[in-house]
Amino acid sequence: MNKTLNWGILATGNIANTFARALKLSTTGKLVAAGSRTQEGADRFGQTHGITRCYGSYQALLDDPEVDAIYISTPHPMHVEWAVKAAQAKKHILCEKPISMTAREAQAMVDAAKANDICLMEAFMYRCHPQTAKLIELIQNKAIGEVRMIQANYGFNSRFDPAGRLFCKELGGGGILDVGCYPMSYSRLIAAVAMGKECVEPVDVQAVGHLGSTGVDEWSSTVMRFENGLVANLSTATQAFMDNGLKIFGSTGRIHVPHAFHPNYWGGEGKIMVQYTGWTPMQEITVKTELPLFTIAIDTFARHALSGDKQVAWPGMRWDDTVANARTLDRWRECIGLEFDADRATA
Ligand SMILES: NC(=O)c1ccc[n+]([C@@H]2O[C@H](COP(=O)([O-])OP(=O)(O)OC[C@H]3O[C@@H](n4cnc5c(N)ncnc54)[C@H](OP(=O)(O)O)[C@@H]3O)[C@@H](O)[C@H]2O)c1
Repeated sequence: MNKTLNWGILATGNIANTFARALKLSTTGKLVAAGSRTQEGADRFGQTHGITRCYGSYQALLDDPEVDAIYISTPHPMHVEWAVKAAQAKKHILCEKPISMTAREAQAMVDAAKANDICLMEAFMYRCHPQTAKLIELIQNKAIGEVRMIQANYGFNSRFDPAGRLFCKELGGGGILDVGCYPMSYSRLIAAVAMGKECVEPVDVQAVGHLGSTGVDEWSSTVMRFENGLVANLSTATQAFMDNGLKIFGSTGRIHVPHAFHPNYWGGEGKIMVQYTGWTPMQEITVKTELPLFTIAIDTFARHALSGDKQVAWPGMRWDDTVANARTLDRWRECIGLEFDADRATA
């Protein structure tokens, strides 16, 4: 590999700052530019992160020939527009999760990536992390026998703000899209591994949930059944405190991953708890990493993009997985009567 990636950050909110900090530790790329809806926002971000190519529009960022890759960190409803435009500008794209509002939009983004020969990945960073690789290895080696059931949740109690992106319908509010996408993607990964595949979708999806005053889900659960009989029970919330863990129950033992979705956030030590058989003591497997979660994902993405790959290697979030995840989230939302403008869009 004889080059590194020059990154541009598109939208300068909360997670963009985390990304910029993590990128500083990367060996495969550096931050060179940022685009914001306002010049003031771009300049502020530039000052914080030490860059001078600061643009007062997203399009101006895409027009910068020095930029090789774009990190999209707008609220979810804007992902599709800017991912398609970034692909047309021939930039590689790491797009925040959920990649889109709907499976239709996710497919449009994949089509744009294909047509423009660029690398695209949905930013489920945990997919690139050694803790996830270790968990896959345990399942493949039948550490807990045959996987029968999965329980996972991701939720928090956020201050109610009807105009904020977690509650506002126009901004894609609700727990299912914001963080329910994590247990959905992780349970589908475990189900796939248990079936000796790389990507599976449930055959049956049922769900209940509570829609709040702004019309989006504030807490919700889905129960899903896969082709081999495996059952996954997932919950999410923006108005309930959850432990954000993953549990896998097998025919001979069980696994608990306390920090499945954001392991070793700034580097450190992750834990996988395994009870191999019956009522034997839980054993702890530790997974240490020097680098932050985001840096590991950034470097994984960059290595593929710089090698000319359009997709990252499995278990990184590949295109079929991304579209399947979006499709299953569509089904979860449909069960609880949560519809967005994007569901009605035709173009
Ligand atoms: N991977 C993770 O761990 C993680 C964590 C948190 C969030 N996320 C994802 O990242 C995305 C952004 O989340 P965030 O928490 O960073 O959100 P945020 O703090 O609200 O920032 C979003 C940014 O998007 C831009 N934007 C464009 N149109 C907007 C509009 N109509 N209203 C508000 N902002 C608008 C703004 O940047 P400018 O003013 O610069 O244009 C804003 O600062 C979401 O899709 C979310 O799911 C991922």
